[in-house]
Amino acid sequence: MPEMKELIKDLADQHGRTRESLLPILQGIVKEERQVSEEAMTEVARELDMSAALVYGTATFYSFLDTEARGKYVIRLCRTITCDMKGKKEILDTLQQLLKINLGETTKDNRFTLLETNCLGWCHKGPAMLINEEAYTELTADRVSEIIDEYMKKEI
Ligand code: FES
Repeated sequence: MPEMKELIKDLADQHGRTRESLLPILQGIVKEERQVSEEAMTEVARELDMSAALVYGTATFYSFLDTEARGKYVIRLCRTITCDMKGKKEILDTLQQLLKINLGETTKDNRFTLLETNCLGWCHKGPAMLINEEAYTELTADRVSEIIDEYMKKEI
């Protein structure tokens, strides 16, 4: 797809072509396409001149590979040790209660999918999560309720 090539080239121009650029580029692809296809990963590897295995590994690490249909808003809660110690479990429980789904599931209206991911680089402000490409940090149960309320008002 030529549009995919364009998109990846634009993202690489914006974020650079190093290993550190991979996460923002993958996030950019998710934002536009709602998923990272195999074709997109191959193109990222070509554009950044790195191995497809590295791109695939990074996408897997951050659970950006969509094997199933996902909701419009994909929540990725950090499960890595710092966030875990800072109360990730309570945040996960709150999210599951609010959305009435378990980890890995999508709400019936296809609004939310709830996933876990590895360290997002916000450890000093954990617990942290992404909703699509937006990062939310220093989460508490109350803050999570507010955030979910905001997303409930958005279009799907
Ligand atoms: S451990 Fe959660 S952001 Fe790093």
